This record gives sequence, C-alpha cells and structure tokens, in this order.
Amino acid sequence: MQFSLAIAASVLALTASAAPTVQTRDIASGTDQNGSIFMFGDPAGPRQLLFQFGACGLSTYFANQVDPSMPLVAMPAGVFDQFGAAQNNALCAKVITMTNNGVTRQAVVADRNLSVDNSIDMTLDLWEAFGGHDNDGTLIRGFSWSIN
Ligand SMILES: *[C@@H]1O[C@H](CO)[C@@H](O)[C@H](O)[C@H]1NC(C)=O
Ligand SMILES: *[C@@H]1O[C@H](CO)[C@@H](O)[C@H](O)[C@H]1NC(C)=O
Repeated sequence: MQFSLAIAASVLALTASAAPTVQTRDIASGTDQNGSIFMFGDPAGPRQLLFQFGACGLSTYFANQVDPSMPLVAMPAGVFDQFGAAQNNALCAKVITMTNNGVTRQAVVADRNLSVDNSIDMTLDLWEAFGGHDNDGTLIRGFSWSIN
C-alpha cells in the first residue's frame, strides 16, 4: 500500500516536472543579416586570432568555456554593442546558431566587427559550409541567427 502510494507520488512528481515546457528565450536574434569571410585559407590561424585578440577576450576570460571544436565569429558592431562592452558583453562566449539557404551551423561569439556591411564575420570552415569559396569575399546575404 505504502509502496504503491510512493510510486503514484513519484509518477505524479515526474508528470508535474515534465509538464511546464521550458522555453529558452533567445538573448538575441536576427534575420536578413549579412555574412562575410574574416580571412581566407586554413581557418585554424584566424580562429586563434579571434580567440586571443577578439573583443570578448575569450583566451583570458572564457578560456575553459569555449568548445575547441567550435568555429568563432565576430558579430556586427550594431548588434554586439547593444549587449555591453568587451568581455562583459552578454553575447561573449555564447553559441550562435546561424541558418542560410537551408544550412544551419553553430559557432561561438568571439569578437565585434565594425564593417559597413553589418555582417557576421566568419572563418573559412563556416564560410564554405554556407556555400562560400576560398579567396572569394562576396557577401553571403540573408542569414537568420539566434543566440541563447
Ligand atoms: C571587420 O571589418 C573590417 C572592415 O570591414 C575587416 O577588415 C576585418 O577583417 C573584420 N573582421 C574582424 C574580425 O575584425
Ligand atoms: C548588407 O550589406 C550591404 C552592402 O554593404 C548593405 O547595403 C546592406 O544594408 C546590408 N544588409 C543588412 C541587413 O545589414
């Protein structure tokens, strides 16, 4: 009797905890954003530059929080600056999910970029995933993205 009550109670508890679907709210999101290539060639070097010298100071302030297998990006200043300065920016070290033309990739925010194109600046691995080519800096337009 007590045993089955305990089971009933735990089932109820499970049901109760599963019921409210946790809606993770995006910190930031956008549509129709431009994408650009940071540097041509092997993405390892450019990634290291973003890691060490990007506005977020990932190597200093977030060293153990960044998955080394993730590409890094620089967010357009017009977006970045809404969320704080330098390493205190709320987007720093956060995962961004970017979609363009049916392709979705994730990266980590490392830097701020002031460019007239108001673009998310990325390394060659991401650039090629989205259909770009090495040594071709033509903007890729129409990204939608979210950071949470
Ligand atoms: C930012 O924008 C400038 C000017 O458009 C560009 O030369 C630079 O490589 C960009 N990227 C980064 C990560 O600073
Ligand atoms: C994308 O870049 C072009 C060329 O610099 C610019 O005219 C346009 O406003 C940019 N689009 C967005 C949404 O920022």
